[in-house]
Amino acid sequence: MNLKKWTKQLIGIFLLILSSTPLQANFEKGKWPEYKEQVIQYLPRLEGWCTKEKAERLMNIIVNTSADMYVEIGVFGGSSFLPAIAALDYQNKGYGYAIDPWAVAPCLEGYDGENYAWWSKVNYEKILLGFVSSMKEANLEHRYWVLRMTSKEALSLFETDTIKVLHIDGQHSEVSSLFDVMHWLEKVAPNGRIIFDDANWPMTQKAVDYLLQHCTLDPDSYLGDPYLVFIKK
Ligand SMILES: C[S@@+](CC[C@H](N)C(=O)[O-])C[C@H]1O[C@@H](n2cnc3c(N)ncnc32)[C@H](O)[C@@H]1O
Repeated sequence: MNLKKWTKQLIGIFLLILSSTPLQANFEKGKWPEYKEQVIQYLPRLEGWCTKEKAERLMNIIVNTSADMYVEIGVFGGSSFLPAIAALDYQNKGYGYAIDPWAVAPCLEGYDGENYAWWSKVNYEKILLGFVSSMKEANLEHRYWVLRMTSKEALSLFETDTIKVLHIDGQHSEVSSLFDVMHWLEKVAPNGRIIFDDANWPMTQKAVDYLLQHCTLDPDSYLGDPYLVFIKK
């Protein structure tokens, strides 16, 4: 028997099993700062645009307001969604709703140039699979629902005045961003929070103006920030 060959094959099989078994990320529920740190350490494994600072702010908003319902419009690989759901899980309560069509066509509406070229190349099946696997890996499966549809299609599934924290980060064109704020604001509970992403883009300014007229700007948010937090009156 060629021992060297067998050893090599065994190592190969072992590595294959290791790479196909999802890693478990058990966020230990000790003190809040340490818990957040574990979640933030996990962020680089997720596809998306959430910064460490934003992830921490999102988590703090959820825990400080004792929120039990989080809705995100435009989830992509879950880089904002996972920290938010981890914050719900820390409190042992609530559910999150992940709204995203994970499809090319809705993403291209109203875009041209660089934006159009970038979004038309996204492999959405891979992004969705990565998102769902990460949620499983982080043991957060029991705290969320996937709504694979556009924000317009999801609207009728939610009751008025119910959402405690709404994160709007879907289609950023002027028409879509304005649609999202105008139709989703009534779904947010009084005193609930609205996080509006890419608030410094020219095409989102009408949506920002609408939120400024109908909500209070969170004292820690400043016009010109990349995302803004609003409080529903
Ligand atoms: C900027 S990414 C979201 C990033 C994510 N929130 C994060 O923090 O990493 C925008 C997402 O909006 C989704 N999207 C596009 N059109 C949409 C629509 N009409 N309704 C909901 N989501 C939409 C896209 O599929 C894409 O995943």
